[in-house]
Amino acid sequence: MREAGVNMVNLAVFGWSRIQPGEDTWDFAWLDRVMGLLHEGGVRVNLGTATASPPPWLSHAHPELLPVTADGVKLWPGGRQHYCPSSRAYREAARRLVEAMAERYGGHPALAMWHVNNEYGCHVAACYCDVSAQAFREWLERRYGSMDRLNRAWGTDFWSQRYSSWEEILPPRRTPTWPNPTQQLDFARFSSDTLLECYQLERNVLKQRTPDIPIGTNFMSFFRPVDYWKWAEHQDIVSNDSYPDPADPASGMRAAMADDLMRSLGRGRPWILMEQTTSRVNWREANVAKEPGQARLWSYQALARGADGIMYFQWRQSQAGAEKFHSAFVPHGPTESSPAWLEAKQLGGELRELDRVAGTRVEAGVAVLLDWDSWWALEQPSKPSGRVKQVEQLESYYASLFQANVTADFARPVDDLSKYRLVLAPNLYLVSRDAAANLRQYVEGGGHLLLSYFSGIVDPDDHVWLGGYPAPLAELLGLTVVDWYPLAAGATVALRLADGTLGLGDVWSELIRPSKAEVLATFAGGRLDGEPAFTRNRFGRGSATYLGTRPEPLVMSVVLRDVCAMAGVTPVLDAPPGVEAVRRGEMLFLLNHGEAPAEVRIGEQAARLGPREVAVVDWEMAEETSR
Ligand code: GLA
Repeated sequence: MREAGVNMVNLAVFGWSRIQPGEDTWDFAWLDRVMGLLHEGGVRVNLGTATASPPPWLSHAHPELLPVTADGVKLWPGGRQHYCPSSRAYREAARRLVEAMAERYGGHPALAMWHVNNEYGCHVAACYCDVSAQAFREWLERRYGSMDRLNRAWGTDFWSQRYSSWEEILPPRRTPTWPNPTQQLDFARFSSDTLLECYQLERNVLKQRTPDIPIGTNFMSFFRPVDYWKWAEHQDIVSNDSYPDPADPASGMRAAMADDLMRSLGRGRPWILMEQTTSRVNWREANVAKEPGQARLWSYQALARGADGIMYFQWRQSQAGAEKFHSAFVPHGPTESSPAWLEAKQLGGELRELDRVAGTRVEAGVAVLLDWDSWWALEQPSKPSGRVKQVEQLESYYASLFQANVTADFARPVDDLSKYRLVLAPNLYLVSRDAAANLRQYVEGGGHLLLSYFSGIVDPDDHVWLGGYPAPLAELLGLTVVDWYPLAAGATVALRLADGTLGLGDVWSELIRPSKAEVLATFAGGRLDGEPAFTRNRFGRGSATYLGTRPEPLVMSVVLRDVCAMAGVTPVLDAPPGVEAVRRGEMLFLLNHGEAPAEVRIGEQAARLGPREVAVVDWEMAEETSR
């Protein structure tokens, strides 16, 4: 580890059955030894609370803690994460374990952080068992207070669903056809909250016993089941597990997007890249290895986008178990000739020289809105189109920013957005009264908003806002949408831009009636020939631009260049295609994602970057030379 520059490890994350081999038997000897060795070696520990995989004795004694799927299938022990988050037996056992861990290691000199559980929701994001059903009812009672309010919120007169007592209510188990949409939305909220209760239970134990040790759990990039905004408020340090697919050319962009989300979840604070692989994972159909330099490149990318720690899963490749073919620092065979080892070791040496980056911040002029309620509601079935997927839509905007080297944060629709010059809202389907008022206030005050189709459609109960789509935003946008014409897979719609050039849109088209908005582009051909496709409304001191389809990448980049120029948002640097440029504090990071060498001009100077090469330049130098 010293050779590879490792100075922190995650430890004992799945250690429960070894730490507590029976209800009243404990074995800390092995962990004491490892903690001691690490400490002697100058390696600090992010210590797992080990609660993510209950030991066999526990599920044997309490089979009711096993989770159940929507189909009524019980998930048995033998894998991991086989617990119902509402189970009292599970929670009590977890509490005992965490108390014991805090007791034993709370004062250990190697302890740097607590790693609570692991990747909440990863395999079991929601449980539908009877215990969960009861917990769901209690959650609903707290939310609605009365049956009548619940019936109204769920719209239960439709399809004869009116409830007369709490006992009748169930989780949205497998039904003949779609379960009630608001029931599903509430169940998503409940499931995220219930996992959060488990996290909080552990966090409270730890905070009480070790108030000075930071506590967190590892997130999983854009993970739909868990509302990370809500969770992030309870993380001393936000951390992420990132496994981009090396076979996918868009992975560099996707990883950047996840990095930006992590920084934003922590409200700009440095975060930790908690897990990535040195080369291959073991859970894709074909586990393509990272290209030479790619692990290092994506590590630098996280660093550039605000990470203060770069970590990996895993140290030593195991000989047995389900993950024995997952890459590691130390492979099954000879270490010295392993390219993954050599690259990780090289990075370890380099990070030692980059202390001045730690603690510095990344500033962004653009915010992209993401709201979990809206995401949950948008991707439920029985919509005008099942092809509008939240992350896919976010990506089509983000990709354009990424290519142009415009740095973006993520934000909630109800956040104070005034520090951003430009706000993008791709498919913000669910909009609360507060969110709509906030967007209006942002634009009135001089902000520039770019919003897409199928936004502002429903309220937090998933009831359609009446009065012409998108009713709560219609005045701000200066238009109403009369009807929707979703496009089939593979179908496109032609667009005529202001300068007469033609482009394409996909996924969606619609009939827009501007009241005040000016028309920036029209649909060309078909039933919408000549009708507005893109519009802009000057509102207060700012503007609201609206897109009635998803533009193809080329058109998207034209649109974004235009709104950025209007909002005064500039790229970090003009760099050749494939070269990412990010400013963090006083450093400029240049990352060549391309397969070919690239030359980046920084004023009079030029930086030459080989394929997947990186350069870290003093920002002042970059600024001076470009004058
Ligand atoms: C997740 C888990 C790890 C391991 C890796 C494998 O991130 O946290 O325990 O299973 O996936 O990629």
